[in-house]
Amino acid sequence: SFEVELTQSGRTLLVSEDMSILEAVADAGVPVMTSCEEGICGTCETKVLSGEIDHRDSVLDDQERAAGDTMMICVSRAKGDRLVLDL
Ligand code: FES
Repeated sequence: SFEVELTQSGRTLLVSEDMSILEAVADAGVPVMTSCEEGICGTCETKVLSGEIDHRDSVLDDQERAAGDTMMICVSRAKGDRLVLDL
């Protein structure tokens, strides 16, 4: 599991291995746009303020992945133990 801090909503959530960041965020009542939930449409793209991302989507190109400032929260996860999102 890892922690996700949501700066706009002032919440910090624990994301367990069996759930997506999107699920954790939605469970916390924070509204987020979603569609495919499979990492292919780009609807759930979220700005990342800090933390290392484990990209698992098919939307971002190599350059965007390397930049590390955006992610698809329906499938992608944290590499470390904490991510800070602009949500
Ligand atoms: Fe489609 Fe996340 S909802 S990429």
